[in-house]
Amino acid sequence: MSINRFLVRESDSLDAALKTMDANGLGLAFAVDGGGRLSGVIGASDIDATLARGGSFGGQVSSAMRPDPGGLPVDADPAQIAKRMNGKGYIVPLVDRERRPVDFVSPARMRRIPVAEPVLTGNELKYLSECVTTSWISSQGPFVRRFENEFARLIDARNALAVSNGTVALHLALLAFGIGPGDEVIVPDLTFAATANAVIHAGATPVIVDVGAESWNLDPEMVAAAITPRTRAIMPVHLYGQPAEMDALMELAERHGLIVIEDAAEAVGARYKGRPCGSIGHAGAFSFFSNKLITTGEGGMVVFQDAQIAERARILRDHGMNPGRRYWHDEVGYNYRLTNMQAAIGCAQVEQMGRFFTRKMEIAAAYRARLTGIDGLRLPTEIPGRVNSYWMFSVICDLARLGLARDDIVSRLANAGIETRPLFYPLHTMPPYRGYAGNREFPNASHLSDGGLSLPSSITLTDAEIDYICGVIARLYGTRRLVQRAASA
Ligand SMILES: Cc1ncc(COP(=O)(O)O)c(C=O)c1O
Repeated sequence: MSINRFLVRESDSLDAALKTMDANGLGLAFAVDGGGRLSGVIGASDIDATLARGGSFGGQVSSAMRPDPGGLPVDADPAQIAKRMNGKGYIVPLVDRERRPVDFVSPARMRRIPVAEPVLTGNELKYLSECVTTSWISSQGPFVRRFENEFARLIDARNALAVSNGTVALHLALLAFGIGPGDEVIVPDLTFAATANAVIHAGATPVIVDVGAESWNLDPEMVAAAITPRTRAIMPVHLYGQPAEMDALMELAERHGLIVIEDAAEAVGARYKGRPCGSIGHAGAFSFFSNKLITTGEGGMVVFQDAQIAERARILRDHGMNPGRRYWHDEVGYNYRLTNMQAAIGCAQVEQMGRFFTRKMEIAAAYRARLTGIDGLRLPTEIPGRVNSYWMFSVICDLARLGLARDDIVSRLANAGIETRPLFYPLHTMPPYRGYAGNREFPNASHLSDGGLSLPSSITLTDAEIDYICGVIARLYGTRRLVQRAASA
């Protein structure tokens, strides 16, 4: 982006300044005087204040701007720039000797803030080196069992099996319970497609049900309405780390003789009434993909309440080979094993889980403190008795109020160096899954998905970056509110 997209003349109207601010997506413009010299800065709040004093959109920029935004010389050295970026101002104009703006610096030009990135600063390298120096690089190595035990302890589960990823964790859980052709499994409409894929791979039929408007997760009443004589299992997903309504789902399952397989891929650390998510149902599946709270690059874990079922899963994980008779196969199995190298990374990650989790809670609290009260921006609901692990801090934008499509919001934030992620598309809208929607309706999943965004949620996120992100969002909302007001004026 060029500095020209931020420049307005002092004599321009506020309406023209608003258009510039809206078009650059950052809700900010710099004013220049008749000689093209930098003279002020103007944002949505300045226009708001002028209107409140009785001004109008036709008034001049000079009546609303704050004087002298204090640019930096165009040949400023990086240390000067860094110092200035840590102080006031997200965007700093760079000026020539006559104070004419020629360029700018912004956080976006210095770093793109990612939605999620792994942190591998513990014993990862040390443990990995051990795998290499001892030649234990396949799934037959000591870190695999150690990772299973330490992860099981972390989430208060009994029988844990490390597997190649979260999708096969779900698949293996279904197979271990003998769920397959002719069986129905209830899944939420708003989830990552792997939830439904695992059911389809098992040969069973996913039955897609809408989610609750507040919980964003399976709604027990809607689940109850979808149960048929063919239903074998319910697969609640703890979406973005928000625990699903487990008591009611477990009670439903018990009443109807159903299995509950928790898709806790996104919910390491989340708790429902004090119990870790993933350890409440008959089985729980986790993902350790690189954007998850604990990662092994690719990887997963499946835990079972019942040791016998877990044993069956262990055999299926290893080609269906009879554990007492090498190379004798009683059934067709899979190779779903995790390598010792991945497990080594996993062990190092588990050691840091306390620190990771604490930071996630701080990030969520910081977002909440700064974003609460922005009209037309919904934050995740805090539900009593549930600890959201905030894998992704996700918000729902009121698109009508903003007058923007979700992708416009994504690209405006991307211009500001802020990576975001749209919420998942509802399953029922995508070709492979449409046939599993029956004649049910999905207003909640559709609404959430339409305006939903996940904000940067890495534990590497700094407080200054959270301030910056929230400032950009607030200015986006402020600018759009004014644009709408100007249009109706
Ligand atoms: C809800 C949900 N289920 C399942 C998975 C699958 O996990 P994996 O990518 O490790 O296969 C994911 C992955 O992100 C997920 O978000």
